[in-house]
Amino acid sequence: MYSEKVIDHFTNPRNVGEIADADGVGEVGNPICGDTTKVSLKVENNVIKDIKFKTFGCGAAIASSSMLTEMAKGKTLEEALKITNEDVANMLDGLPPQKMHCSNLAADAMHAAIENYKNKNASS
Ligand code: FES
Repeated sequence: MYSEKVIDHFTNPRNVGEIADADGVGEVGNPICGDTTKVSLKVENNVIKDIKFKTFGCGAAIASSSMLTEMAKGKTLEEALKITNEDVANMLDGLPPQKMHCSNLAADAMHAAIENYKNKNASS
């Protein structure tokens, strides 16, 4: 039912945690189930140098967040903003139809973190 990639990222999630002195933080909730994901970023010269996530959610949501952090690390902010929830699900070789909504947290939380970073920099 789950792809090997989903099981791998769920059982061995990458980049779990929170960056203490993050440059940007974003948190989103899933209206369908109430689960949440928080993403924190370190940005240097417009590039995502570090990214971590905390997901209070199901295995598919954790796997999506883990995959997202691997996709985003090292990307410019513009490149990272182009990563969609669908891209994350595709990189996981798909999710069961009833779990597709679980892939909606990761990229959205990262986009929110990038917006947070941009807002902070605009006001300083
Ligand atoms: Fe909530 Fe999967 S059931 S994110």
